[in-house]
Parts: sequence; structure tokens; C-alpha cells
Amino acid sequence: MVNSHEQLKDGVVLAEIGSHSNGPWCAKHGAGSALVVLGTFIVDARDDVPYNPDFVFKPGRENYGDYLNEHVAAARDSGAAVGVSVASVNLDDTIDFLLAAEEAGADYISECLHSTMDMFVSRGLSSALLRQENWPALREWISVLLDATSLPFIAKIGVHDTPNTEQAVEVMAEAGVKIIHANLHDALSDEGLQALSRLKSSGLFLIIGGGIKTAEQAGRVIAAGADAVAVGTAAMQDPGLCGRLQAALHD
Ligand SMILES: Cc1cc2nc3c(=O)[nH]c(=O)nc-3n(C[C@H](O)[C@H](O)[C@H](O)COP(=O)(O)O)c2cc1C
Repeated sequence: MVNSHEQLKDGVVLAEIGSHSNGPWCAKHGAGSALVVLGTFIVDARDDVPYNPDFVFKPGRENYGDYLNEHVAAARDSGAAVGVSVASVNLDDTIDFLLAAEEAGADYISECLHSTMDMFVSRGLSSALLRQENWPALREWISVLLDATSLPFIAKIGVHDTPNTEQAVEVMAEAGVKIIHANLHDALSDEGLQALSRLKSSGLFLIIGGGIKTAEQAGRVIAAGADAVAVGTAAMQDPGLCGRLQAALHD
């Protein structure tokens, strides 16, 4: 079992694709990669969450413990380490879901700080936590979450969603975050490469994604300073891609 993020070094991560990334899907589309991430799952007490109901859970271990056991086990068929991503408007529910993922045998836990859904942003949560006015709340939210959990934690962010993302990453680093997964939207564009270079100064382990489709592109993103690359859209279309990229990067 992979239990250190250094084991992801120069590897390929199957990015979370909400509504798709359950255990069997990750086993197929992430086969041969370094890490597959299940989710993002939403935990919310309401009945009207505007998200695929298969990925929405009411709070309470009885509602997701069996699901996580089954789907973490299924994702293991990828041969990769298994992560679980969650988003919730409630910190206790976020933590409880991630603890259930730990109990289910996951190797990594992740919070989606990338969502622009109104249910989060209107409360200053998920991507809105990265806004400067919410940095005190970000620091508190991440500190409490890290104190309560024990697996390596991945903060998933979208770099174009908010200004000053690099400073928000510094806030998370001070709170104890060690791994950032950043969606740069187009990692190899000038804007993407500049964002990667700014993120590098945090000293954190960087999983970088956004538009990666080929081994050559993955290699360039690693050469530009990423510790690992993430692939989403292209892996949806080509289930063998992650494994081929992983093999090429390790050649
Ligand atoms: C259909 C779709 C669903 C996604 N769902 C999620 C999600 O639930 N949580 C998340 O953090 N990112 C989500 N993302 C973002 C991806 O994880 C990834 O960061 C992004 O697509 C960039 O990688 P790519 O260009 O290889 O697709 C989603 C992307 C797509 C295309």
C-alpha cells in the first residue's frame, strides 16, 4: 500500500470526475496510474443538492460507510493508491466522511476546494475559501480537518477560480497541508506555466493538471516543476491513457 506522497513522485493521478469517479470507473480509467481519486462526493442533509444523487450522501457513517468500503476496494483493481475526495458545507460532516474513507482503507483523503457551486460559494466555502477575505476561515477549517484525520491530505484547487491563489496555498501550508492538486486548466499555456512556477515557491508537493493528454505533455509539466501530473478529461475518453503515461514517465 502506498502511504507516502513521495511515492507519487513523477507519477500520474486520475483526477476526480464527479458523477463518474466511483470504484469500478477508477479501476478502469486509472489502471496503472500512481493514484486514483474517488469522488468528489457531497455530504449534505438536504434533499435538493444539484449534483448526481449517486454522489450525494446524507450525513452519517451509516449512509456511506458500506459504499466507501465497496468502492475503495473496487478502485484497488487499478493497481494504484486510492484517494477519496469530499465537499460539504459542514466541517464535521467533511471530517466524518474522510474518517470513513480512512476506515475503508483509502491511502489519501482530499477536499475539493475547487467547486464553484452556489451552495458552497454563497457560504464562503470550497473555492470561496481561497478568497483573501476567507483566509482566516480557510486556516481554521484546514487545521481542524488535519488535526482530526491521519492520512496524507490533498487540497484540490483550481488556480483560475480566484486571485491570489498562491497566497491561499501559503495559508494552507502554514496550516499543515503538504500536497496540493492544482487544476491549471491549461497547464502548458504561458499562464499555466507561470502559475506552476509561483506555486513551486510554496515548497509543497504539487500534483498539476489541466489539459494533459500525451506523455510528451506530461513530461513537460514534470520538467516545469510538477511533482506529479493529473489527468481527467483525456482519461475519460481513453481508459488506457493514465497507465501509458505512467509507464512513459518511468521509462
Ligand atoms: C466532468 C468533470 C467533472 C469534474 N468533477 C470534479 C470534481 O467532482 N471535483 C474536483 O475537484 N474536480 C473535478 N473536475 C476537475 C478535474 O478533476 C480536473 O482537475 C480538471 O478537469 C483538469 O484536468 P483535465 O484537463 O485533464 O480534465 C471535473 C472535471 C470534469 C471535466
